[in-house]
Amino acid sequence: MFRTHNCGELRLSDAGKQVTLSGWVQIGRGFGGLTFVDLRDRYGITQIVFDGDDNAALTERAKKLGREWVIQVKGTVRERTNKNPNRATGDIEIIADELTVLNSSKVPPFTIEDDSDGGDDLRMQYRYLDLRRGPLQQNIIFRSKLALAVRAYLGEQQFVEVETPFLIKSTPEGARDFVVPSRLNEGQFYALPQSPQTFKQLLMVAGYDRYFQIVKCFRDEDLRADRQPEFTQIDCEMAFVTQEEVLNTFEGLTRHVFQELKGVELGTFPRMLYDEAIRRYGSDKPDLRFGMELVELNEVAQNKGFGVFDSAELVVGICVPGKADLTRKQLDALTNWVKRPQIGAKGLVYVKCNEDGTFKSSVDKFFDQEALAAWAAKCAAKPGDLLLVLSGEDEKTRGQLGRLRLHVAEENDMIPAGSFKPLWVVDFPLLEWDEDSERFHAMHHPFTSPKREEVERMLTGDHETMKSLKADAYDLVINGAEIGGGSVRIYDRELQEKNFQLLGFTPEEAEEQFGFLMGAFEYGAPPHAGIAFGFDRLCAVMNGQSSIRDFIAFPKNNQGRDVMIDAPASIDEAQCKELNLKITV
Ligand code: AMO
Repeated sequence: MFRTHNCGELRLSDAGKQVTLSGWVQIGRGFGGLTFVDLRDRYGITQIVFDGDDNAALTERAKKLGREWVIQVKGTVRERTNKNPNRATGDIEIIADELTVLNSSKVPPFTIEDDSDGGDDLRMQYRYLDLRRGPLQQNIIFRSKLALAVRAYLGEQQFVEVETPFLIKSTPEGARDFVVPSRLNEGQFYALPQSPQTFKQLLMVAGYDRYFQIVKCFRDEDLRADRQPEFTQIDCEMAFVTQEEVLNTFEGLTRHVFQELKGVELGTFPRMLYDEAIRRYGSDKPDLRFGMELVELNEVAQNKGFGVFDSAELVVGICVPGKADLTRKQLDALTNWVKRPQIGAKGLVYVKCNEDGTFKSSVDKFFDQEALAAWAAKCAAKPGDLLLVLSGEDEKTRGQLGRLRLHVAEENDMIPAGSFKPLWVVDFPLLEWDEDSERFHAMHHPFTSPKREEVERMLTGDHETMKSLKADAYDLVINGAEIGGGSVRIYDRELQEKNFQLLGFTPEEAEEQFGFLMGAFEYGAPPHAGIAFGFDRLCAVMNGQSSIRDFIAFPKNNQGRDVMIDAPASIDEAQCKELNLKITV
């Protein structure tokens, strides 16, 4: 037997027991005639003592153990004189009388401790060593528990878990496809699913009524902290339901997992229209953990001789509480921040609401104290607050200010730690007009239904009408992160054809790519709707983190590479030939 106990479970009540432990040597240190070894496994760390007076030969061997060696120790549990209150096993130690080296280890390239000294690249290269560290193990174990809780909850609610194929034809979710060449079908490729969207809809046509799957999705898109090229969704679909029932079911799931895994009671989730989210927060995923809502200032800021504002469609500001004391340098830094190409504002106007009731602004030339007082009143600013104001085209400017709002909150520690603010954002637009390509894109995906009262306008309206169509599409947002998205689906051929036409498909292209789905709609497709949660994102948000990478056992780096196995890699000529691929460099 390799072990009678793990390294995290022995307590004072076990004193006197003969035990066998196995694990990794975290650290060894000598103290007089004694040698101490911290033995670690997934469950914790237990201190082992080798006593040179009692057993000199054994202690000599223990002194030679290196970090990360795998050992087995037999010994007796005893109370520690020098207790460690920070460790669950800190009241005891094992006085060793047998030591077996199960495997030696090279010196690891970084310390395997909660705070490692290894840089990102090195830790990615030796991911299996990084995964030994406590924080990562906790994340991966959390992920496993979350998956089990989700399965149990949805199973209880009559959802059927169905696996859908990975080697498929393109499912458009707005990203590029990863493709796989087919050996048996020369010159042809499979696409890896960006989501199981079309299959889950076919399962509804097939009568499965409630489907779910915890499933890998693949999207070839630019990577960020909350985006991986392969990621996992909790993917769901339901038949004979309204949007309301989908929201209630998945609000129930979210509340359940927060309660079960975090002991957090989320309460009822507020709902906000998409238009309202954009208006109040400049974002379709507002972070409600703090205020600083956008305030429209056109009425008080225009027609006072400041050309930039006068010619703008919108003048809009936020009130940053207690920040009138920002220095010139700090304000310049904020101005530069909004002028970066990623944000794209032309400039930033500020107003300091001084403690003595006066105002100091970057546009004092155009606005007197009375005018600035009117801005402050509109923003409900108090002495000591700072107003930050942008102007320009409505939607774009709100977006810029929304991002500034987040940036300022993060920089000034205005986001309370440990709080969770979920909300549903509903009534997304159906279509999004892209100026560059001069065509519509589906805001969610092409299978999303317009709101029922919009169908007539969709079938008969002109180009401008199409821009204003609203869909039965919804997102779950928690702490400013888009955790899930879904929609009520089109389930009739005519409307689906119309949608493809609006998205720029010729009837032939629509038939070629999605004929199988539209065909299925002609065989008794029930009304249906669904949603998918980003599982990695849910893990990260539940643990107050913004990067999903540390909740994925073997993630890709920002270039989409797995540096541990060195993928992607070229393939040899024979393999290319077999796949009928001609590689030209
Ligand atoms: P959507 O494209 O909104 O919807 O995706 C659902 C959720 O998946 C997560 N997500 C990602 N997580 C990590 N890395 C990525 N690259 C990534 N892309 C998306 C997000 C997102 O909210 N088929 C539809 C769902 C439906 O309509 O039922 C879909 O995939 O948290």
